[in-house]
Amino acid sequence: MRNYKQLLAAFLLSTGTMAIAQTNELVIQTKKVGAEIQPTMYGLFFEDINYGADGGLYAELIKNRSFEFPQNLMGWKTYGTISLQNDGPFECNPHYVRLSTPNHEHKRTGLENEGFFGVGVKANEEYRFSVWARLPQGGRESKIRVELVKPNSMGEHHAFAAQELVVSSGEWKKYQIILKPNMTEPKSVLRIFLASEVTVDLEHISLFPVDTWKGHENGLRKDLAQALADIHPGIFRFPGGCIVEGTDLDTRYDWKKSVGAIENRPLNENRWHYTFPHRFYPDYYQSYGLGFYEYFLLSEEIGAEPLPVLSCGLACQFQNKEMSAHVPLEELDCYIQDALDLIEFANGDVTTTWGKLRAEMGHPTPFNLKYIAIGNEQWGAEYPERLAPFVVAIRKAYPAMKIIGSSGPGSEGDKFDYLWPEMKRLKVDLVDEHFYRPEDWFLTQGARYDNYDRKGPKVFAGEYACHGKGKKYNHFHAALLEAAFMTGMERNADIVHMATYAPLFAHVEGWQWRPDMIWFDNLNCVKTASYYVQQLYAHNAGTNVLKLNMAGKNVTGAEGQNGLFASAVWDRNKNTYIIKVANTSDVDQPITLNFAGLGKKDVLIDGVCITLQSTNPDNDNTLASPQNILPQETKVVIEQHLFNTILKAQTFAVYKFKKGVK
Ligand code: AHR
Repeated sequence: MRNYKQLLAAFLLSTGTMAIAQTNELVIQTKKVGAEIQPTMYGLFFEDINYGADGGLYAELIKNRSFEFPQNLMGWKTYGTISLQNDGPFECNPHYVRLSTPNHEHKRTGLENEGFFGVGVKANEEYRFSVWARLPQGGRESKIRVELVKPNSMGEHHAFAAQELVVSSGEWKKYQIILKPNMTEPKSVLRIFLASEVTVDLEHISLFPVDTWKGHENGLRKDLAQALADIHPGIFRFPGGCIVEGTDLDTRYDWKKSVGAIENRPLNENRWHYTFPHRFYPDYYQSYGLGFYEYFLLSEEIGAEPLPVLSCGLACQFQNKEMSAHVPLEELDCYIQDALDLIEFANGDVTTTWGKLRAEMGHPTPFNLKYIAIGNEQWGAEYPERLAPFVVAIRKAYPAMKIIGSSGPGSEGDKFDYLWPEMKRLKVDLVDEHFYRPEDWFLTQGARYDNYDRKGPKVFAGEYACHGKGKKYNHFHAALLEAAFMTGMERNADIVHMATYAPLFAHVEGWQWRPDMIWFDNLNCVKTASYYVQQLYAHNAGTNVLKLNMAGKNVTGAEGQNGLFASAVWDRNKNTYIIKVANTSDVDQPITLNFAGLGKKDVLIDGVCITLQSTNPDNDNTLASPQNILPQETKVVIEQHLFNTILKAQTFAVYKFKKGVK
């Protein structure tokens, strides 16, 4: 291993610099342990945008499984004698199909589902097909044949997995079989046809991988949920975003419709189906199959505090200028009751109405909900006047619950300036800030939180991402600037208590918004450079902030700081100092980490440096090349209490040293 002098000499040679390079000395004050870093600090924001839930994380492979899309057979192709009925066993989803013997023009009666951009299946994995069925016209039994079919370029269909299923009752019953394809196919179709002469009714036709995340039947795609768990998130916010508000009040996310038997959860529209006319997805709806119970369970299973966001009684204000899209104040009670009932659903005893439902769904122990957000991107006087009665009611019933209010859709400006004082007046616990901003914004916001009022609510940076100019999405440079900006959050962890990048997921064939943290197709996913930034922060969050200065100043990328951003934390559980430095400049920078205040007997051992870097700032990870940008870990050795190194241009680095005693 080369020492610092050799490194510096090589650096000077490579840059052709004759003068002695001035090192950037970052002084870490080890003696004074600063503010606690909240376990919630680095988390996840989830919304059903970009087919994030239906067609994504929610592992259901069948689209429009209950025939409730406004065009009831959307996603289905039918042939033979098939009819749509509407007096089915599930009150909220009354439609189903009836399959009868075909007339002489058709050889068969059946239907095919196209899935979400195809039905993706993997060789030798098991898939659980289930259906509610009955024999409406009597008979002892009827048979259906269930196939996975691969369409080829000639328009021919080759069945590569098939099973017969016997329906044996005139009463509605759930039937299931396992399909085990012998080949991998991202774009198959599910075909069902009548294989006997007895008429059969079919409802809630479903196909799930057996191997879901944690094996739940109404489960989640394992690779996607695992990617979430691998971050070690402290908080999990759901279910959005704008879908919380709805384009109108009727289509807001209504959590009560998302719990209970999945067959009876009604369909909701998904505003991302049509919000951007140039990204129009007429088959994008919310099945609510991934509902609030599943969100709470996922939070628990990935070790994150759940953070539900509820409607405050204002439909999307971007799309509704009229008051008619707002709940009149005197009619707000049922919205407030929804919030109180949700807390009961999460935390209530099994003898309570909503606690009982949670128990019946499989989780008698409470989910221990501590945070609730009311309203997403709201603004104007209409927001605080609606939020106020929520605050009063929640405080009265659940004094320990932490309430989160909004500062509107922007990172600054009139709406933001109006809402922050209003949130202080209402004494909410945290204020949600959103910033989807370009590179130059991130470069100049390193000190954003340094002068925030310490007496008011804390900050929840609830949606943010660096949006590159031009046609760059999820490129390395955006991730680097997010990392740089996050040093400012970390330095101010006394006031910034939560931060969640957004959006989380995007299907490569069905996105409405980019950049996003994780991209996927029907079989695989790819973690972006931004994902790795989030992961590096979450894995190296530490427990307490340490003061870190360069020439007596916070390192915020300010003038004279050579494009450097830095923060330091102490991890009291691991006895480790963790220093994060982003070099946003185009040149390598000599760096000295000076651990001030350590005693003579203190030694720093087990040094590690993890870097995230790309020689091409426009580079990104793709499904075809998912490993273009990955964190690289090397061991480093520190001399005494000074660590000298060269931090490469355009690089984010995390340095870790364990404190020991000689
Ligand atoms: O994350 C995408 C959208 O951005 C969210 O739905 C909304 O809250 C914000 O405008």
